[in-house]
Amino acid sequence: MASSFRVSIWFCLLVFSLFVLSPRVISAEEESSAKSEESVLTLDHTNFHETVSKNSFIVVEFYAPWCGHCKSLAPEYEKAASLLSSHDPPIVLAKVDANDELNKGLASEFEVRGFPTLKILRNGGKLVQEYKGPREADGIVEYLKKQVGPASSEIKSLEDAGNLISDKKIFVVGVFPKFSGEEFENFTALAEKLRSDYDFGHTLDAKLLPRGDALSGPTVRLLKPFDELFVDFQDFHADALEKFVEEASVPIVTLFNKDPSNHPYVIKFFNSPNAKAMLFLNVSSELADGFKSKLHDVAELHKGKGVSFLLGDLEASEGAFQYFGLKEDQVPLIIIQNNDGQKYLKANLEPDHIAPWIKEYMDGNLKPFKKSEPIPEVNNEPVKVVVADSIQDVVFNSGKNVLLEFYAPWCGHCQKLAPILEEVAVSFQSDADIVIAKIDATANDFPTDTFDVKGYPTMYFKSSSGGVVQYDGGRTKEDIIEFIQKNRDKTVEQESVKDEQESVKDEL
Ligand SMILES: *[C@@H]1O[C@H](CO)[C@@H](O)[C@H](O)[C@H]1NC(C)=O
Ligand SMILES: *[C@@H]1O[C@H](CO)[C@@H](O)[C@H](O)[C@H]1NC(C)=O
Repeated sequence: MASSFRVSIWFCLLVFSLFVLSPRVISAEEESSAKSEESVLTLDHTNFHETVSKNSFIVVEFYAPWCGHCKSLAPEYEKAASLLSSHDPPIVLAKVDANDELNKGLASEFEVRGFPTLKILRNGGKLVQEYKGPREADGIVEYLKKQVGPASSEIKSLEDAGNLISDKKIFVVGVFPKFSGEEFENFTALAEKLRSDYDFGHTLDAKLLPRGDALSGPTVRLLKPFDELFVDFQDFHADALEKFVEEASVPIVTLFNKDPSNHPYVIKFFNSPNAKAMLFLNVSSELADGFKSKLHDVAELHKGKGVSFLLGDLEASEGAFQYFGLKEDQVPLIIIQNNDGQKYLKANLEPDHIAPWIKEYMDGNLKPFKKSEPIPEVNNEPVKVVVADSIQDVVFNSGKNVLLEFYAPWCGHCQKLAPILEEVAVSFQSDADIVIAKIDATANDFPTDTFDVKGYPTMYFKSSSGGVVQYDGGRTKEDIIEFIQKNRDKTVEQESVKDEQESVKDEL
C-alpha cells in the first residue's frame, strides 16, 4: 500500500507539472471584480449537505489554501463557474476548504486524499463521481456540459457518429434492435455509472459505426485508439458489462509521455493492484521500435498474471528517475515495483533481454534493487552519514543506541536542526554506545515498515537491544539529549542511578 502511494507521488508531480497552467497575471480590476461577485459557491460543514441536497448536479472542489495546484485552478474554475451560471439545466460549481479543521469530516466522507480533489454530486448527492475532466476553463465547461446531458447519446446518422467518435478516445457504444428491454436498461445504467470515465452512445444501426457492417445487436462495442481498436461483448449482466469495459479499456502496454491524452491510461496503470513493470527509453530514437514490439509481446503473454506494463519516454520521466534514483546512462532500462515496495532493475537493456528478465522476475529469481548513495569513505563528523547500503551495519547490527535523522536536502527545518544535532552528537562523543546519524531520505531507500517517514525531518531512535521508537520531542539540544537518555538501553550502573532518581520522584 505504502509503496503504491509513493509511486503515485512522483507520478502526480509529473502529471500535474504537465497540467500546470501558464502563470496568469491577474490585474487589479479582475481581482476586484472576482471578489465582488464570485460565481463559485463557498461551502463548509454548516451548509454543505443542505446545499447539495437541493441540487441535481453540483461540482465540489476540495482544496487547501497552501496548495499550489489549487491556486492555479482557482481562476479557471471561477471562469468556468461564471460561464456555466446560466446553463440549463443548472451546473453549480462549489468549493470547500478541506484544510479547515471543521471541514475535515467532509473531507473524509468524500475520501479526499490530495488537493485539489473534484467530485461531481448528482441527485442531491445520492450519486458521487470523480471529476476527470480538464483543468482549464473551456475544458471544464465542455466536460461538465457533457456530464449534465444524457449519459449515452443516440447515434442516428453518420454525422452523429463522426461528432461523437474520435480516433483518440475510448467510446463505448451499444447496438440494439430497440431502445427498451433489459439489455438496453443495463447498458444505460452502466453509462450512468461510468459516464465520468468514458463516453457512451447507442444506436439502432450498426452500419453507422466504424467497421460496423457485420455487427448486429444487442452488442456492446468498445472502440479504442490502441491495440485491437475495438472489442465486442454480448453479456448484459450488469457486473460482467462493467468488468468488460474496465478491462478492455486498458492498453496492453501503457504509454507514458507528454501527451495528455495518454494520462487517463497512466492513471489507470498506477491505480491497478498489479506489480508495475516500466521500461524507460527515448521513444523517438531509432532503437525504440525493437523495444516496443518485444515489450508488447511480453505484456500480451502476461495478461491477467498480475503485472502491468508501461513504456515511459525519457523526456517525460524526470520525476520517475529522481524517485527511483536512476541515471540517464542506465537507459534503456526496465524497473519493476511490486506491492511490497520491492524494486527490480535491469539497466542498459536490449530488446532480447526483456522476456528472459521478466521470466526471472516471475520465477522469483531476481535480487531487489536498492537506491543508495555510495557509502562515504570518510565519515568522521560528529553526526554520522548513513546510506541505504550501510543502514543495516550502522543502525541495526551495530549493537549501539542510534538516533537517526531522515532529512531532505531542500528542507529548511532540517537545515535548522543540523547544528543542534551536531551539538547533541558532540555531547555524546565520549559515549561509545551512542551514535547520532542522518540519512538523505530522498537519495536512499530504507525499510518503510520500520520507519514511517511522512515529512522532514523525521527522527527515529533504535536502542542497542533493537527497540525502535519515533522521536516525538522538541527540537532543542536539551530535549533530544533527554529523549536519548530516557530511551537508551542502559548499562547496569546507569540503570541503578535511574532507579534511584525515579524513586526519589515518587516520594516527592
Ligand atoms: C441485467 O443485469 C441484472 C443484474 O446483473 C441481471 O440480473 C439481468 O439478468 C441483466 N439482464 C440481462 C438481459 O442480461
Ligand atoms: C531522443 O532521440 C531523438 C532522435 O534520435 C533525439 O533527437 C533526442 O535528442 C533524444 N532525446 C533525448 C532526451 O535523449
